[in-house]
Amino acid sequence: MYKVFISELQIKERIAQLGEEISEKYKGEEIVMVVLLRGSFMFAADLARAIDGNVIVDFMVVSSYQGMETSGEVRIFKDLAENIHDRNVLIVEDIVDTGLTLTKILEVLKSRNPKSLETCSLLSKPSRRIKQVDIKYVGFSIEDKFVIGYGLDLDQKYRHLPYIAEMTG
Ligand code: IMP
Repeated sequence: MYKVFISELQIKERIAQLGEEISEKYKGEEIVMVVLLRGSFMFAADLARAIDGNVIVDFMVVSSYQGMETSGEVRIFKDLAENIHDRNVLIVEDIVDTGLTLTKILEVLKSRNPKSLETCSLLSKPSRRIKQVDIKYVGFSIEDKFVIGYGLDLDQKYRHLPYIAEMTG
């Protein structure tokens, strides 16, 4: 069972604000959106449409930790098609929890010498951080609870829900 935690309207309004902020920041300069699959697919689709500018969309598939949280191992299953050297990169993430995944991705992408490298996450659970990571644009900061929907899954289910829900047991 689950119940709505962040509604469709709340998500829509927040993304409109993020889109404005991002459009303002890049002022028409090209942005390569690096969408981390699968969780970010819905957020990225809406965020891209909220940005008034020059947006290139690319995807990465990475595995987050399994079991041992502190190992910090991130495997890249699908890498970018774009060469990001000297380009403005914006990583789009669904949720930052321990921060391990984003820290690793930042390391990997930084080594490719982008012109700029920023991060945008729909959700953040700051109380769960193991690695402090700077997230430039955060949709919602939430307490430590497991959420699903709007791209986020539990055993690959619920990604299609148009809102963010919390499990109620
Ligand atoms: P991190 O490396 O701990 O920051 O892990 C981030 C990844 O863990 C996210 O991209 C999600 O795939 C997954 N994750 C963390 N918290 C949740 C949650 O509440 N619901 C669904 N997935 C989550």
